[in-house]
Amino acid sequence: MYSFLLSLHSVFRWLVVLSLFTAIIRSFTGFTSPRPFGRLDNAIRHWTATIAHIQLMIGILLYTQSPLVSYYFGTDEPDNPEAFFFSILHLVLMSTALVIITIGSAKAKRKKGAYAKFKTLFLWFVIALVLIFAAVPWPFSPLAQRPFLRSF
Ligand code: HEM
Repeated sequence: MYSFLLSLHSVFRWLVVLSLFTAIIRSFTGFTSPRPFGRLDNAIRHWTATIAHIQLMIGILLYTQSPLVSYYFGTDEPDNPEAFFFSILHLVLMSTALVIITIGSAKAKRKKGAYAKFKTLFLWFVIALVLIFAAVPWPFSPLAQRPFLRSF
């Protein structure tokens, strides 16, 4: 179960990054060279938030199974930086990014006019992407390193 969730979470990260990236590019072009906020724009807004929430659910399940997390909470003096990263930092930064995506998506939905919708999505999603980029354990990250992809 643990290794399945770890691989799923690892693969799903690419969907999160890709959908956010697509939403950001589309909203940027939407307010710099104005056009109507179409059905596709709305679908991208909706699916970007949904994909991020699915990753949050997988992350929460993984959190309950991870030996690193149980090590961190099971010892009085945890001295493993990776255990701290996944138990606290990754959790806090990713949950914050998820809240930001949710707020941005909901605000954009309620805005009147295409320009305001695109701009709102752009601003909130860029902040979320920066946080996510910082909190993913890329192989080049100074905080914790994991592979680009994990097979099942
Ligand atoms: C957009 C949100 C998130 C992204 C993009 C993301 C991405 C990742 C990546 C790429 C890994 C490394 C997987 C590997 O080892 O190959 C990872 C590990 C992990 N993530 Fe996330 N994550 C997100 C949210 C969360 C959340 C919200 C939680 C907790 C509630 C969480 C808990 C964990 C845990 C526990 C591990 C692995 C610990 C271990 O190695 O045992 N993640 N995450």
